[in-house]
Amino acid sequence: MTATARARDRRVYLLSHPVLFALLAALRGKPVRRLGRTLVVHDREAYLAALTRIPLDRTAEGTTGGAVDRLAGAGGLFDQQGDQHRQARRDVAERLGAAGVERLRPVWTRLLDERLAPLAEGGAVDLAPLAAEIAGATAAALLGLDADPFELAAAAQEAGATAARAHLPGLGRRRAAAQAERAAERLLALVTPAGTAACPVVGEGGPPARGDSRAGHGDGSASRGDGGPAVERGRGDAGLAATLAVAAVNTTVAALPRAAAWVCDGGLWAYAREGVLVDELLRVTSPTPLLPRVAAAGGEIADGCPVRAGDRMLLIARHAVDAHRRDPDPVNPAPARISQLVFGAGTHACPGARLARRQLGDLLEALAPHRPVVVRAGVDRRAALPSWRTLIVRATA
Ligand code: HEM
Repeated sequence: MTATARARDRRVYLLSHPVLFALLAALRGKPVRRLGRTLVVHDREAYLAALTRIPLDRTAEGTTGGAVDRLAGAGGLFDQQGDQHRQARRDVAERLGAAGVERLRPVWTRLLDERLAPLAEGGAVDLAPLAAEIAGATAAALLGLDADPFELAAAAQEAGATAARAHLPGLGRRRAAAQAERAAERLLALVTPAGTAACPVVGEGGPPARGDSRAGHGDGSASRGDGGPAVERGRGDAGLAATLAVAAVNTTVAALPRAAAWVCDGGLWAYAREGVLVDELLRVTSPTPLLPRVAAAGGEIADGCPVRAGDRMLLIARHAVDAHRRDPDPVNPAPARISQLVFGAGTHACPGARLARRQLGDLLEALAPHRPVVVRAGVDRRAALPSWRTLIVRATA
């Protein structure tokens, strides 16, 4: 059963990113491999060292932070400079803390109650659009927006997917960059609709005025002071809201259906109420399997593995947590210090981890009484992260 679960899950990343994952598998023989100015990091301790001991250029071209920063305008969470950004990061952490997550929880438990109801009648449910609806509704609630959940999720998915494609080498890169710019504009318009009050996550300041052509280009001009403080704050709000939407939606849409499919195929429903299964599923699916980063200064990530300023590091989260060789085991799980590495490490570790775990736990608990099985699955070949486009389950109990 475990073999079936792993085989199905392999399809999701091999079909969506065939060359990349074949290459990573081929290279994983060495803990850290240098290819010119790029280091491919598979080893757990080196992955941890890269995230915690090497100063990182958070807005470099080709990194997650860089993509968001350029597309969403200056002010994404990835750029930690300035008091205002630090305050914004604290506010986000507060909203995603224990009390904040409990406040948000009814958003998805209500959707689970409604959308999973057909299972009780012997019907089928597609978990992929349900994950998108949960992701969109949660992001809207987090940002205090009255946006349609599907529309917000689709805009954040498109922004994530086009930004990822724009960084892949190849002939279509310029076209992808133009698409990414348009997708970012659509997302920015949704997260900062005209006339809204200040973004609740970042407090006062309000969104950029509609038609402010600087928003979305991320050329850094406002932070150089030509637009005055109001413009700078507006751009910060837009960037922060878009960053949150992209980070929350793309991971949720990838994580929930993949984890549910593992439980269906692996016959793990008896453990669905145990928190440890959630951690094991997040470990083995590693929803963000690869973290591209750039070193801002030199250091060492492992014995005899120097890193120089400007080196690109491909941090393979899925290998760092043994996703490729250790199946999810709710009886004998991997230690928490390993499984939590799927959320990164250090000062920039994922602030949404608690929310993500709670959402997955609630989904599994809602599904468990029906003992569902997968009846149809299709891969989303355009998504930024390995994801199911459709995952239809049917109750067996
Ligand atoms: C299973 C779901 C998720 C996974 C696997 C995941 C994973 C990650 C990882 C690996 C990072 C980079 C950490 C680092 O550089 O050390 C990150 C950053 C981030 N995540 Fe998540 N994430 C998930 C869900 C969420 C959710 C639901 C939210 C928001 C509600 C969120 C918000 C963020 C933000 C804002 C950052 C940037 C933090 C910063 O740069 O300071 N994530 N996430």
